[in-house]
This record gives sequence, structure tokens and C-alpha cells, in this order.
Amino acid sequence: MYSVELMNVDKTYDNKQLVVKDVNVTIEPGEFFVLVGPSGCGKSTLLRMIAGLEDISAGSIRIDGKKADHLPPSKRELSMVFQNYALYPHMTVEDNIRFGLDVKKMNKKEQRKKCKDIADMLGLSDYLKRKPRHLSGGQRQRVALARAIITNSPICLMDEPLSNLDAKLRAHMRAEIRELQRKLGITLIYVTHDQVEAMTMGDRIMVLNEGEIQQVGKPIDVYNSPANPFVAKFIGSPPMNLTTGLVNREKHHISLEDTLTIPIDPITLNNIENNKVIVGIRPENIEISAAHNQENLSFEVTIDHVEILGTETLLKFKWNNSNWYAKWYGQWNIQVGQSLFLQLNKDSLCVYDSQSEKLIVEPKNIQKQNIHEGIV
Ligand SMILES: Nc1ncnc2c1ncn2[C@@H]1O[C@H](COP(=O)(O)OP(=O)(O)O)[C@@H](O)[C@H]1O
Ligand SMILES: [Mg+2]
Repeated sequence: MYSVELMNVDKTYDNKQLVVKDVNVTIEPGEFFVLVGPSGCGKSTLLRMIAGLEDISAGSIRIDGKKADHLPPSKRELSMVFQNYALYPHMTVEDNIRFGLDVKKMNKKEQRKKCKDIADMLGLSDYLKRKPRHLSGGQRQRVALARAIITNSPICLMDEPLSNLDAKLRAHMRAEIRELQRKLGITLIYVTHDQVEAMTMGDRIMVLNEGEIQQVGKPIDVYNSPANPFVAKFIGSPPMNLTTGLVNREKHHISLEDTLTIPIDPITLNNIENNKVIVGIRPENIEISAAHNQENLSFEVTIDHVEILGTETLLKFKWNNSNWYAKWYGQWNIQVGQSLFLQLNKDSLCVYDSQSEKLIVEPKNIQKQNIHEGIV
């Protein structure tokens, strides 16, 4: 199992704009590491630099502890799976899978045996003589996976491999790729713009925006304590609700929409640079309330939209000039236009400095609420 270290890695293209900025991260041997961020944030560029398909403009990359900056792709001991599969249309499934081996000059008999084993593992045994155009999207995706893993490379890089599949198949392939990675024990670096894939597949995820690392961590930690408002909005669906709060240093509190006040201790207050903060709360931590009550951080809203998803109910409403969401377990009989008293769970709030955007107050009840002892 190999590690991949990126040290102060930059990338500029001809227009001299930095598209990857000072990336520092160590991907551990055998880790499933997800690079996630919006389209155009530099994910593919970063992956292609690790693969050696793109030069780095500054910094250094180490693979298995050894400097790899000047190694060609073939010497980096990695395989790659792309979004468009890149299968050869004129070749059969078998030849496509064996393509990686031909380069390595393995004898034909051994090649056939290896191809059969991998095809069995991925459920492709019945399709070996077919051409890619006679396969479904999911089967083509499996051929691309097979071609990557047959090379026995200790590192596999995947760039949005599931984007072309429908939602149901994507969910199925998520689990399949994750199981395969565990079984093979390879280091897998996986690029996606889809936060659900990041949350469900990664041992750790790295959130990227405009070429810069926003946060690296276990998916659940990133979800519970997003490092800044960008991550709070990007991870989670619907996103974390955010609003502006004003700091009152004399009274030791933050006020929201004039009516609600959140007490804050003097030490934390000293960490806030100016008098404005951004207060965030996940939709599942907004609760129903009997009536307006200052102590309970409760307020009245009019519901704009209701979605009942079978196991949960999603409510949309306007508060403090923003669209907010509440998400509750179960099927709630609530009508559009109805007025409701809601309350913010005090212990679930994130507070960010409005200037530096740093997380100043973390939710206090993460342990109790979301993490069953011994599981995570
Ligand atoms: N060959 C190139 N020449 C110039 N700019 C490029 C090139 N490839 C990518 N870019 C730019 O670099 C940025 C990051 O692109 P990319 O890594 O493909 O993003 P992502 O994979 O996150 O969608 C984008 O602004 C893109 O336009
Ligand atoms: Mg890309």
C-alpha cells in the first residue's frame, strides 16, 4: 500500500492564473480519499498532476515516500478511471480489460486467467466477447474499473467515474467501488462534485474551492463541524442554514433578527474579530416549538414549500431574508402557507467570524445526537 503526499503544490496554466493553490495533504496507504468541490475548482487538475499527466507548477509530489515529480505516468504505479470510461470501441470487453496488461508484457495464458478472475469479481464474465457499445452504462463502467484494477497498481485514481450513470445505478456502484477498494487494499483517490458520494464513500474527504483546500477530515466530522460557511453550504443536502448575527460585547451575546439572543462566553467573544458573525444550523436541528419564547430561540415563520419523502419531511421558509430549511423524521401534515413556531437547538449552532470565516463555536451536542458510541 502506497501513500501519496502533496507538498505546497501549485498549478498555473498559460493565463498565469493559479488554479491549484498551495495544496498540502498526505493520503495514507490504503485510504479511500475523496477530492470534492464544485465544477472548475481544480479537482481534475490535481488528480492529473498526481497521475503525471500534467506538470506541477510549484511544490512536490511523493508517492510511497519517493519524489515523483519527474516520473512519467507509467512509472508512478497507478491506474486511472475516467468519467467517459475511455474504452476502445473496436475492441471486445476482454481485450479492453487486458489492455493494461499488454503494456506490461505478461504472457497470454496468464493474461487470460487474470482477466477471467477480474471479470468474475465484477460480474462481467458473460460479456467478455461483446463490444462496449453492446453494454449498458453500468457494465461499461465496470469494464473501465476492471481495466484499472487488472494492472495490480497499488494506487488507483478515479475522476467522476459515476457521473454518467442514473441515480439508482450510481448508488449501487458507490457501494461496489468501496467494497472493491477494501478487498484489494489499494489507495484510492476519488474525484467527485457530488457531496453524497464524498460523504458515503470516503475514509476522509478534502473539500476544494477555487483551487484551495477548505477542509480535510472524516466525512462525519466535516458534516458536523464545517470549517467555514462554504463547507457548511457545500456538504449536506439541503445545506446548513446560515444567517448574520450581531455581537453584543457588553451583554455577552449574539443577536439574531433583533428578537433572539444567543449567550456567548467572554473567552469565545475575544476570538471574534469584528461585530458580525455568521450563525449556522443544520435543518434537522431546527425543532417545532409551542409558541414564541425568547429563552428557547423560537420564532414564527410561514411555510413556503413542503416535501414529504417517506421517511422525512422537508420544510422551506424565509427567515432573516434567507431561504431556510427544516428536516424532520417522519411524515408531517403541514400545509404551504401555514404559520409555525420553530426553535433553534442552542447546542447545535455553528458560529463563524464574518471576516475570517473561521469556525468560532462548534456544535456541542454532536456526540450525543449523531454518533452512537462505538460506531464512529
Ligand atoms: N488545459 C487547460 N488550460 C487552461 N486552463 C485550464 C486547463 N485545464 C483546466 N483549466 C482551468 O483550470 C480550472 C480547474 O479545472 P479542473 O481541474 O478541470 O476543474 P474540476 O475538475 O474541478 O471541474 C478551471 O478554471 C479550468 O478552466
Ligand atoms: Mg473535472
